[in-house]
Amino acid sequence: MKTKLLFLLALISISLICCNKQMSDAAQTATEIITESTEVESNDFIESLLAKMTVEEKVGQMTQYTGFFDPTGPVPKDSGQKEKYEAVKSGKVGSMLNVKTVKDVRALQKLAVENSRLGIPLIFGFDVIHGHKIAAPIPLAESASWDLEAIKKSAANAAKEASAVGINWTFAPMVDIGRDARWGRVMEGGGEDPYLGSKIATARVKGFQGDDLSDPTTIAACAKHFAGYGYTEDGRDYNTTDFGISTMYNVVLPPFKAAVDAGVQTFMNGFNDWNGIPVTGNEWLQRDILKGQWGFDGFVVSDWGSIGEMVAHGYAEDNEHAAELAVVAGSDMDMEAYAYQNFLPALVDSNVVDMALLDDAVRRILTVKQRLGLFDDPYLYCDEEREAAMAVSQEVKDDALDIAKKSIVLLKNDDILPLSKSATRVAVIGQLAESKNAALGSWRLGVEDNTAVSVIEGLEPYLGKNMTYQRGVEVYNGTEGFVNELNINFDDESGIREAVSLARSSDIVIVVAGEHGYQSGEGRSRTDIRLPGLQREMLKQLKEANENIVLVVTSGRPLELSWEDENIPAIVQAWQLGTRAGDAIAEVLFGDYNPSGKLPMTFPRNVGQVPAYYGVKSTGRGDAIDLVFWSHYSDMPNSPLYPFGYGLSYTTYEYSKPTITPTTSGASVSVTVTNTGNVDGEEVVQLYIRDKAASVTRPVKELKGFEKVAIKAGGSQTVTFTLGSEELGFFNNDGEYLVEPGEFDVMVGPNCMDTEGGSFILK
Ligand code: BGC
Repeated sequence: MKTKLLFLLALISISLICCNKQMSDAAQTATEIITESTEVESNDFIESLLAKMTVEEKVGQMTQYTGFFDPTGPVPKDSGQKEKYEAVKSGKVGSMLNVKTVKDVRALQKLAVENSRLGIPLIFGFDVIHGHKIAAPIPLAESASWDLEAIKKSAANAAKEASAVGINWTFAPMVDIGRDARWGRVMEGGGEDPYLGSKIATARVKGFQGDDLSDPTTIAACAKHFAGYGYTEDGRDYNTTDFGISTMYNVVLPPFKAAVDAGVQTFMNGFNDWNGIPVTGNEWLQRDILKGQWGFDGFVVSDWGSIGEMVAHGYAEDNEHAAELAVVAGSDMDMEAYAYQNFLPALVDSNVVDMALLDDAVRRILTVKQRLGLFDDPYLYCDEEREAAMAVSQEVKDDALDIAKKSIVLLKNDDILPLSKSATRVAVIGQLAESKNAALGSWRLGVEDNTAVSVIEGLEPYLGKNMTYQRGVEVYNGTEGFVNELNINFDDESGIREAVSLARSSDIVIVVAGEHGYQSGEGRSRTDIRLPGLQREMLKQLKEANENIVLVVTSGRPLELSWEDENIPAIVQAWQLGTRAGDAIAEVLFGDYNPSGKLPMTFPRNVGQVPAYYGVKSTGRGDAIDLVFWSHYSDMPNSPLYPFGYGLSYTTYEYSKPTITPTTSGASVSVTVTNTGNVDGEEVVQLYIRDKAASVTRPVKELKGFEKVAIKAGGSQTVTFTLGSEELGFFNNDGEYLVEPGEFDVMVGPNCMDTEGGSFILK
């Protein structure tokens, strides 16, 4: 056993790991529950308002409705809608979601402010996930840019657009770590790595919220889904999550903590049951960790109906019980379960739920409304002129193109790219090349359908008459409807023949293949992550006709591209790049932009390797390779097809051997990168470490630094990283952050596999 000295950097005492504190009765009083968590700093205005509120009004603040009628039309006649309308009017609703025009926001706000007894304004939430009117690339794609400034700007633009239509709160960023490509929601996050994920979480929160929350062009952000939703078993959405405490502390929680440190105003819990307790009812997560240890002073909204879902989980007996469990656990606002509205007043009345719990939740909600400036001006975000001007902002469109280019990852290039601008006889094949909708991705509720620049449109200025298009096999249903996109197993071969004949008479064949935007996202899990339908079959036949194929892959997740990698000379990962997708793809194909993106998620060789991620632990067999008894598959190498951090360029880079200089708290690491090709480029220099022996085993590689540097052809750049306690420590299973002396490996390179380095001893 090693005898290392332990440095306790942050000693946090947690008596029970993940306690299930179901008791809201005698066993634990509300005061105890709340004082375990940080008291939110309040002020006289909020306190005096709180003092005036009835229990129904408090529960009202804790209730969120989705848009349910035309707020500028007549009073709804339908009795359910009428009831909701009356609820908004009488202060029984604190927030609305899915309302997306100034006209509607203004009308609803007026209803609340001018009719309710206390005139408390509503807060308007919306899923502003990647752009609002102008779609930016899906979040996973943006993460491939590793360009934190561009990511921040993209979020800031989304905030500008959304706030211009009356929205003041986004349900983003999703900071769930995603390691399972079968799970359709990986498209919405920052990828597989907690370090990169934390940096991205910070950039997005700062982008949405800016420096001043009461500025009408910024909006409140929401870190979701707290916590562990990305570990959904089998990659099937909404499924159980069952993983250990070390993973919770070291992988799942860091991006959420980064969001808190960046000042995020709200959190959303989730649909998942984690180790037997649905996270919506998890007091340890929401009160002990989030509001307690981390000092989070905003509020937690449930996920859609997730309070009610605790009944189906088998955790709550009924909705009344669910309301009790959720409020005790620290879920402050009920999104669409109606459990708080229907049951909390009576639960308070009968002393099952203490009023102090409601006060804590309401104080938090009112505080965020105050920070947004809503008490000074409930219509702060209602500016019709700004709404009209923003809808056509050229600046936002230009920024969307900029980040779209940066998000593209060149996966393979056998000297076929970039294409010559004088190319003639270019075939463009694939239904996704013509689509003006697919690249808008999933979660683009504010974006008008069919507004993306298609690949064909993007190529037009370069190719004009030299381009001929054939659709090939079907990938999505022609109507491009939201629900129809679910069908991904198209088996009609009829388009292949014409595509092959076009390929035969062309010099270059650009095939756009992959997933439509609606084939990933919430509820879109897949067991087969190859190109959907008959697209691979079509590629096989095209290859027989013409070897010069450039494959442009559009997807919301890593796809299995093993056959393609072996058989196609150039592969460009183009995700779903938003409104400017076609422009960005064309610029990359013709070399007007030199690709610089790097994978934020491992691309597996096949679905059997999933979950596939680089930050694995070593098995007891270590690196040993034996005939049989070593940790491996009999039918496939352990290594991925394309590793985390991987991405090619039209130039080449040479890395010097890193210089590692130990310091008192860690080490300083320098590397010089030279652009050895003849075009300028940008390279993401990556630094990984391995803590060789620790009191809790550490992954074989952990990203602990990266820098994206522009290097002119023939030029060099020296990058220096500092490794200190923030990079070298980890959480043990009691939640203590430790930096343990001993040997650390340091590895630097262009991706997680092609690294060079050395080691140092931390004394
Ligand atoms: C999703 C959330 C989203 C909410 C509101 C839920 O289905 O899980 O991420 O914010 O809907 O649209």
